[in-house]
Amino acid sequence: MKRPSHTAPDEAAQLPKILTALPGPKAREVLEMDAQYVSPSYTRSYPLVAQSAAGCIVTDPDGNRFLDFNAGIAVCSTGHCHPEVVKSIQDQAARLIHMSGTDFYYSAQSRLARKLAELAPGEAPKKVFFSNSGAEAVECAMKLARYKTGRTVMIAFIGAFHGRTMGALSLTASKALQRKGFAPMVPQVVHIPYAYCYRCEFSKTPQSCSIDCLRYLTDTIFKKIVDPSDVAAIVMEPIQGEGGYVVPPKEFVQRLRAITKEHGIMLIADEVQSGIGRAGKMFAIEHFDVVPDILCLAKGIASGMPLGCTIADASLMDWKPGMHASTFGGNPISCEAALKTLELLENGLLANSRRMGKYLKERLAPLQKKSPVVGDVRGEGLMVGIELVRDRKTKQPAPELRDQVVDRCFEKGVLILGCGPNTVRLSPPLIVNRAQVDCAVTAIEQSLRELA
Ligand SMILES: Cc1ncc(COP(=O)(O)O)c(C=O)c1O
Repeated sequence: MKRPSHTAPDEAAQLPKILTALPGPKAREVLEMDAQYVSPSYTRSYPLVAQSAAGCIVTDPDGNRFLDFNAGIAVCSTGHCHPEVVKSIQDQAARLIHMSGTDFYYSAQSRLARKLAELAPGEAPKKVFFSNSGAEAVECAMKLARYKTGRTVMIAFIGAFHGRTMGALSLTASKALQRKGFAPMVPQVVHIPYAYCYRCEFSKTPQSCSIDCLRYLTDTIFKKIVDPSDVAAIVMEPIQGEGGYVVPPKEFVQRLRAITKEHGIMLIADEVQSGIGRAGKMFAIEHFDVVPDILCLAKGIASGMPLGCTIADASLMDWKPGMHASTFGGNPISCEAALKTLELLENGLLANSRRMGKYLKERLAPLQKKSPVVGDVRGEGLMVGIELVRDRKTKQPAPELRDQVVDRCFEKGVLILGCGPNTVRLSPPLIVNRAQVDCAVTAIEQSLRELA
């Protein structure tokens, strides 16, 4: 296989190496300071202190080397500090750091908007709003949908994560703790079940299912709770991320699109996690042959620089000056990092995401077959989840085991994270190679064996 351009020829340096007990003494100093001064609301699973990183490898202050099978958190799409991305950032920083795109013009923002408009699914001309994060990309989509339709209700899915600002949080239904104590939410949001077929809310099997979760929308919600003519938008992750890396059937997404069209409802695809090659296509929604009205991006788009993008048909994004804006959104450095990221994706990383995603699932298949605690392995491209259960027949979730596997892998030098209550999430940088996939799968296999 052709080596992705910026992996070093030294294979050993591309794999983890743990030299100290974890956390090591220098890492401890950071952890102590953090405990005293940093908000405790962050959700650290294990005490990794990152000092430097390159490709798929993160090094801590004690010289321990970790294989990052999270890409930060599905962010470092081109790997850590890709030399071409670093150069784009450095060159742009030396030229122009800020000249708010809200008030002035610069070419990086226009060029990136043109590129995203060309790439986004659908034939209609597009326009792009730039912000700094996933939550802001979603806020923009919510406001645009309300403004354009003159309607107020938003429909979102159980298990969804759309961010933590009040609008995005009101759509989020991933963990009750994320909403606890922050009420009232933005009113007029209704949550419905997602097509989480491994744990169907309606106890259907693929054979007996007729997409009952959408029948619930049309026959119960639309008839008993909300008239569809009051609904501004349905917001969905084409593949649920924080909720457990859940891939819905194609028919579900296509039927949802048909329902939204029938009632003049906007379909918002939140591709903050699934977009930009993560799921083996530039946008995960392409797996379903569906074109949304509004598409939200962040995370992987700028290889680690903060950037949120909300893309919509130009006829839709016709709001007036001042209706929505952001001081820092679409800053020139992030835009240049995004342009380089997209170039690298088109020149090989998208294909590598597909190729390595297939290989990853092949490597996990025997584990799924023989391990009594692996309930489900699912995903597209390099967005793969392993759902752990106590018993394959009862499907009783095994959240403690999931957490132990994540911790054990950290001790072995492999960084993975959880998603949903009991799923292991695998979202490595799109430059990952076979040896690194083998290393991560071996660490997971060994951890499961040791914990059995
Ligand atoms: C699908 C999705 N939408 C929105 C967000 C929020 O992004 P941010 O943390 O950049 O605000 C996330 C973050 O995990 C996400 O996965």
